[in-house]
Amino acid sequence: MKVLWSAEDLVAATGGRLLAPFEATGVAIDTRKLARGEMFVALKGDRRDGHDFVAEAVRRGASGMMVERVPENFPTDAPLLVVPDTLAGLTALGAYGRARSFARIFAVTGSVGKTTTKEMLRLALAGQARVHAAEASYNNHLGVPLTLARLPGDAQAAVVEIGMNHPGEIAPLARLVRPHVAIITAIAPAHIGHMGSLEAIAEEKATIFSGLLPDGVAVIPADAPFLPVLLRHAGKARVFRFGATGEARLLSLSESPEGSVIAAEIGAVRVRFRLPAAGRHLAMNALGALAAVAAGGFDVKAAAEALEQFQPLPGRGARRWIALPSGGKALLLDESYNASPASMRAALAVLALNPARRRVAVLGDMLELGAFGPAEHAGLASAVEDAADIVFACGPLMRHLFEAISPALRGAYAPDAKTLAPIVAAALLPEDAVLVKASQGSAMHFVIAALSKEPD
Ligand SMILES: Nc1ncnc2c1ncn2[C@@H]1O[C@H](COP(=O)(O)OP(=O)(O)O)[C@@H](O)[C@H]1O
Ligand SMILES: [Mg+2]
Repeated sequence: MKVLWSAEDLVAATGGRLLAPFEATGVAIDTRKLARGEMFVALKGDRRDGHDFVAEAVRRGASGMMVERVPENFPTDAPLLVVPDTLAGLTALGAYGRARSFARIFAVTGSVGKTTTKEMLRLALAGQARVHAAEASYNNHLGVPLTLARLPGDAQAAVVEIGMNHPGEIAPLARLVRPHVAIITAIAPAHIGHMGSLEAIAEEKATIFSGLLPDGVAVIPADAPFLPVLLRHAGKARVFRFGATGEARLLSLSESPEGSVIAAEIGAVRVRFRLPAAGRHLAMNALGALAAVAAGGFDVKAAAEALEQFQPLPGRGARRWIALPSGGKALLLDESYNASPASMRAALAVLALNPARRRVAVLGDMLELGAFGPAEHAGLASAVEDAADIVFACGPLMRHLFEAISPALRGAYAPDAKTLAPIVAAALLPEDAVLVKASQGSAMHFVIAALSKEPD
């Protein structure tokens, strides 16, 4: 493996003290994910202190460790980089990794669709550039610096996801990333419990533009609520709008359960391609990704062609057939990764596309909505009635929806996913299409597990 961090660079980036010089092929903050030759950064978490895992890092082949103090029983000439604060040290590695890179940097934020858009951009650019992007949704004060600290010297493009739960979290991360292109995927109520209002969400997301390089481009959904807020934050930056109008304009969208055929005009370039993942929401993410490709100066036609290989992410639109205990098979739309009101509506619209015997919605609580929770759940009633023939619900919040829908649609309600799982499994009939969706904390994996028998 190539050296990513020399001893000199580690010191230059962090100002730390090296007890013995070492170099690293990468950076890890979790020993379970550490590869031989990487440096382990011992961070202090809420529950655990990374310093307790330094010996484990050595056993797993770490080339060295960034620490705040020399752990007990360690020789004073061990490969340790001692810094006053390892979180600040990791952030410094990220800033240095960013500063030394020649890559075009794309930053992605938004209420929904960040990881999907990140993966679309990775795929869209892969044929024309060496692209760096995190393997998962690494979008917070740890994930963003980690992604930048891992940026290979020869990368030509990098895609960094920036997320938030609370006000004030995006701007410092955006300034660390210093993107050439900053994308807002969508403005919608997610984490609204912490944010207070949709306008506050728009204000917060738009702070991503404070990190834009002077000649950077702001990519904005044309139909976003509080669009003027987004434009105000973009300031003097060049703006690419994507959507029904704008610089990246949808000309036509033809939807099927397996995917969409998208025709669009990106600047002066016309593209037409098939996205093998269903739903208008994913088509819009693809349009946003293509707008970003154009904004970054890459080839839009080649990018659109590459998106024909897109595969929906696990728990985010992946579909598969499952075998039923009673015989026969049903189609499972696994949307169990996460949920917010916008992604619920998007998933229900995809369920509605399926010509099934019955369309079954298995829904659990959407979390982090605070005082908006009950109303946002009950407010899904008409979308559910449009999309589903029968509804199974779990969780105290989904109870509000279950009670709001027409009694004819009510399958069963249970307090939690574990209790609901066998009820759903027993109720399915051959040729049903089943959507399973809730926030991660609602543990819909119990339902997925109960349904996950593959057909012979
Ligand atoms: N533009 C969109 N509008 C509505 N829902 C979306 C959109 N893009 C993705 N989703 C859905 O939102 C959920 C989270 O998607 P993901 O890409 O992981 O977003 P994030 O990284 O912002 O959490 C998934 O259910 C996904 O299908
Ligand atoms: Mg994500």
